Amino acid sequence: MKNVLVTGGAGFIGSNFIRYLLDVEKNVQVFNLDALTYAGSLENLKDLPDPLRYTFIKGDITDQSFLDAVLRERQVDTIVHFAAESHVDRSILGPAQFMHTNIIGTFTLLEAARKYWLQENDFPRDQIRFHHISTDEVFGSLAPGEPAWTEETPYAPNSPYAASKASSDHLVRSYGHTYGLPYSLTNCSNNYGPYHFPEKLIPLIILSALDEKALPVYGDGQQIRDWLHVEDHCRAIHLVVTKGANGSSYNIGGENQPANLTIVETICDILDELKPRTNGNPYRELIQFVKDRPGHDRRYAMDSSRIQRELGWSPRHTLKDGLCDTVNWYLSHPEWVLAIRKQQDYQAWLTKNYDTREKTS
Ligand code: NAD
Ligand code: DAU
Repeated sequence: MKNVLVTGGAGFIGSNFIRYLLDVEKNVQVFNLDALTYAGSLENLKDLPDPLRYTFIKGDITDQSFLDAVLRERQVDTIVHFAAESHVDRSILGPAQFMHTNIIGTFTLLEAARKYWLQENDFPRDQIRFHHISTDEVFGSLAPGEPAWTEETPYAPNSPYAASKASSDHLVRSYGHTYGLPYSLTNCSNNYGPYHFPEKLIPLIILSALDEKALPVYGDGQQIRDWLHVEDHCRAIHLVVTKGANGSSYNIGGENQPANLTIVETICDILDELKPRTNGNPYRELIQFVKDRPGHDRRYAMDSSRIQRELGWSPRHTLKDGLCDTVNWYLSHPEWVLAIRKQQDYQAWLTKNYDTREKTS
């Protein structure tokens, strides 16, 4: 690994990964290719360790000639592909962009890798790697008591977002099978932590509470996600890219599976301690049940035993400590929060998704 192209590195997980990679790999050059959509911000990449080994390249993963040139000019040997449209609710209200970015974008990037690595050059296969970041949502939804998903569980995506990610996973696998493109794939559960864009549950609840706004809980709030701190995810990705076998996929989960309502209540309790409301009342009184997400997956759970067994990975953050650190991070980064609050697209999204949503309690 010498010249690493990270796509989507200005987003939540990508920016955390770049910070992690520069810290643990002292000899790599990191190229961050990002289109800077509403979800990407260079504010996420301030104060990088060793910034001289980092270069930002603004561009779109659906632009073939641009990608071809980047791979050639930067002599890329490793691709870590995060760039995607990532929010399920947005995929329900506007699926087209998800198909374009997540499917066509991944296809275009695979083509660029195939041309540069396998056609124009004949790189030793153990010196190149296409690593694709995917999600547990490709597996669908679990009933209570059903066992956690393994790497062998058949795909059954339910939302347009999940279907677009499943398609991209299949494309990656097919390039490995057909062309011999060296690849690896990770399917991860819900991340949380610093730089999380506040359209997603945890940061949305933190910022809404601080604004004294209603805390929207979809349906009965008993849906279950498998929460993982983003640093644990980044460590897992690095292990898979550097030590995971070619053609392998790994499930990554946090072993933290409380219901959404419990997550929201826990954040309220942490804020009661760290930043009590001026009226002295508990934040929990802001909780508002609202109309459910259409097709809402009920339960996710990942069986991470393969990555634990083969690569020695396990999560280091407990959910309680991780949530405390995360709330503290948002409280101590008011400029970052302000920059997002000022974003027109973000305000328009809040209006579109929440203002006319039926209240159910
Ligand atoms: P994010 O929405 O925070 O960031 C996505 C980034 O991709 C942004 O910087 C955006 O500007 C960039 N991007 C979007 N379209 C692009 C394009 N056409 N060309 C170049 N860049 C583009 O997403 P995230 O939460 O950091 O997720 C990153 C990846 O991890 C995604 O592939 C997502 O499916 C996957 N994932 C996320 C989670 C999670 O909990 N957030 C869990 C599992 C997997
Ligand atoms: O599981 C991995 C996935 O996790 C990633 O692939 C996605 O990119 C990421 O966005 C995330 O998807 P979710 O839909 O699970 O995350 P979100 O934060 O949007 O929602 C978490 C849960 O909280 C979900 O059950 C819906 C619920 N929710 C969400 C929002 C935004 C609410 O109850 N109210 C809300 O306002």
